[in-house]
Order: sequence, then structure tokens, then C-alpha cells
Amino acid sequence: MNKKVIVLIAVIIIIAIIGIVVGINVAGNNKSSETQTSNENQSNNQEVAQTQNNATNTNTEENQNTQGTGKALVVYFSHTGNTENVANFIHEAVGGDIVKLETEEPYTDNYNDLLDIAQEEKRENARPALSTKIDNIEQYDTIFLGYPIWWGDMPMALYTFLDEYDLSGKTIAPFVTSGGSGLSGTPSNIQDEEPNATVTEGLSVRDTNSGNSQNAVNNWLSEIGF
Ligand SMILES: Cc1cc2nc3c(=O)[nH]c(=O)nc-3n(C[C@H](O)[C@H](O)[C@H](O)COP(=O)(O)O)c2cc1C
Repeated sequence: MNKKVIVLIAVIIIIAIIGIVVGINVAGNNKSSETQTSNENQSNNQEVAQTQNNATNTNTEENQNTQGTGKALVVYFSHTGNTENVANFIHEAVGGDIVKLETEEPYTDNYNDLLDIAQEEKRENARPALSTKIDNIEQYDTIFLGYPIWWGDMPMALYTFLDEYDLSGKTIAPFVTSGGSGLSGTPSNIQDEEPNATVTEGLSVRDTNSGNSQNAVNNWLSEIGF
């Protein structure tokens, strides 16, 4: 073989070796960039999955809010403390906020005078002014509304409350204490005053049992879905 042919073969071998080395490197780079892209895709997919999870969580929370009872407010009027006892048991069980309705002019502690005053207010369809003001009543979904039975009806201050606040779309759960008359049809009076509210079955507690009414309260709460 002449010298020229040997040199030519050597050059071809060197070029081939360089070609193989360069080829391996290119293949390696491609592979690593593929891995990176695949990682990016994976991480993008994870983000999408995360976003979907978040969306699912948000929906779940919204559903829970609409299916649950939402925020509760216990509003009550009580002259001698019986209705207040029941109100406190309800508040302990459901949480939320509690507010006592007070009239601008306090009622007398003289029982016989109070009977006369309350009877006169009922006859006149009076609306005794309330000193209690409730801010942001719209934040509550359920209003537990408590009062003593006076002359077979709600005290007229309750009508003032129902006149002052629009409870449309809310659930009103009435509870009463009495000397024995029971609810006396007052839930339907509430419904007449608040035609766009849902009025639940009411709870009636005998005045002498009010301090002992925790079980009755809890049974009633579970009956009406709390
Ligand atoms: C003015 C007045 C009228 C009442 N009228 C009735 C009535 O019609 N029927 C009844 O069962 N009890 C009647 N009661 C009794 C109260 O409803 C009962 O004692 C109630 O538990 C008082 O609640 P309080 O302690 O939250 O004020 C009347 C009490 C008063 C002061």
C-alpha cells in the first residue's frame, strides 16, 4: 500500500471517530432536553391538577355552606329570664351570635301592671321602640327567635323587630316559654310578617322548666336540622 492510501485511511478513521463522539453528545443533549421538557410537562400537569383540586375544594366549601346551617343569630326578648335560659342553651349548641332585645322604655317589674300594659299594647297593635340595634343582620342565615307568650301572642316588641328587619331568604326558628299556652300559633304570625323567610317548627318550653330545657333544646335542634 502506498503512503497516500495509508494517510487517507487514517483520515477516514479519525473523521469516523469524531463523528461517533459528536453523535453521542448530540444524542445525550437531546435526551436531557427531552427529560427537562417532560419534567416541565409533569410540573405543569401538577399545577393544573392542583388548580383543579383547589377548584374542587372551593366548590366543596360552597356546597357545605349551602347545605349546612350557615351563620346563626339567637335573638330573644325575656322579661323574667325564662326565655333567656332557653336562648343560652340554643347559643351554646349552635354557636354564632346572641342578642337580647330591649325596649327603649323598660317594662315594669310589677306583674299585675305588666299584664295591663301588655294587654293594652296588644289591643292597640303597638310597636314599642327597641333600643337594641343589630348590625349586618344580612350575614346570618338562621335567626333563632325567642320570646315569652304574652296574652296568647308574641310581646308587641317582637312585631317591632320583625318590622325593622327584613328576614327574606333566612330561616327563622321560633322558640317560646309560657305558663302553659305553648306556641299559641305564633310561628304563623311570624310567617305572616316575614313571608319570604322559612319558618321552622317552633320549640315550646314551660316557664318552670326553662332552666332544665337543655335536652328539649337539643332534640328540637336536631329535628329542625341543626
Ligand atoms: C304580660 C304577660 C302575659 C302572659 N300571658 C301568658 C299567656 O297568655 N299564656 C301563658 O301560658 N303564659 C303567659 N304569661 C307567662 C309567661 O309567658 C311566662 O312566664 C314566660 O316564661 C315568661 O318569660 P320570660 O321570663 O322570658 O319573660 C304571661 C306573662 C306576662 C308577664
